[in-house]
Amino acid sequence: MTVRKIKLDEQTVLCQPDEPLLDSLLRENIEISHGCRQGACQSCMLRSLKGKPPAEAQHGLKEGLKRQNYFLACLCYPQQDMEIAYSHHRDYVTYATVKAKQMLNPEIMQLVIETDEGLDYYAGQFVNLKREDGLTRSYSIANHRMHGRQLSFHVRRLSGGQFSEWAHQELQVGDRLAVSEPQGLCYYQPGQPEQNLLLIGTGSGLAPLAGIISEALHDGHRGDIHLYHGSSDLNGLYWVEEMRSLQQRYANFHYTPCISRGEPNPDKARGRAHEVAFKDLTALKGWRVYLCGHPDMVAASKRQAFMAGASLSDIYADAFHVASSSVD
Ligand code: FES
Repeated sequence: MTVRKIKLDEQTVLCQPDEPLLDSLLRENIEISHGCRQGACQSCMLRSLKGKPPAEAQHGLKEGLKRQNYFLACLCYPQQDMEIAYSHHRDYVTYATVKAKQMLNPEIMQLVIETDEGLDYYAGQFVNLKREDGLTRSYSIANHRMHGRQLSFHVRRLSGGQFSEWAHQELQVGDRLAVSEPQGLCYYQPGQPEQNLLLIGTGSGLAPLAGIISEALHDGHRGDIHLYHGSSDLNGLYWVEEMRSLQQRYANFHYTPCISRGEPNPDKARGRAHEVAFKDLTALKGWRVYLCGHPDMVAASKRQAFMAGASLSDIYADAFHVASSSVD
């Protein structure tokens, strides 16, 4: 395996074998905006000035960007020396003002922002939020489109998480953030109002699911909608009353909060959300399935949904996850 020389402006960086280019650049204190580190948020996009970047590094980019040799630094393992440039693609489309912060449980905060310009989005998609120094993170939109320029997110505080710690502790109402174009395919698609929906989420994975449910109900969805939201303990659940009151208003909406550890709770299902869901619902032919949470839960649920009859093209998973989130 060979060390590759990477030229960016006047600097040359050595990229070690098996090291993503993003890590090589950050190691040399080169400022590269980044977020998910797994090819979802596209905030680490760069451009190759000489030759094609590795095909895997262009995964998920639009065809036009691929043709112009844009690529994602976090997915790039250079196969040859490269000359690269910062991306001038305009991925931040607007700015927003923080309107409200409210704790939903001891770890998760609802952040509400108002964008300067209206965005064309679907609930369940995500945007990248960027603070002034370039630090970027992706968050799913938790409200449906009727809210106009207001977007709400569920920000889980991660110990040592630069953005989430800052958002919880320092970000103030009135502060400004840059907001990217909405991205991701995990959203409610109108047009099949009779289709049954199964949504499984853990922790702050409820955010996109709540947005999808709200959008579906608002659109007059007639098929059954089943939500399983899980946490290891009672403290990790939130919006229990909101979901219950939605259940009372809409006969086709069914809500099951799940707890996997600790004392049994009489009105919560016992077990991991996906295990409870697949015990309750064993025949999913023709259903649409949405999964948001820890990647292990998502991977296991995809398999189980498929085995229960759901078509792979009807299974949608959140495009990014938080590595330390729980599987519960
Ligand atoms: S950091 Fe590379 S795509 Fe998110």
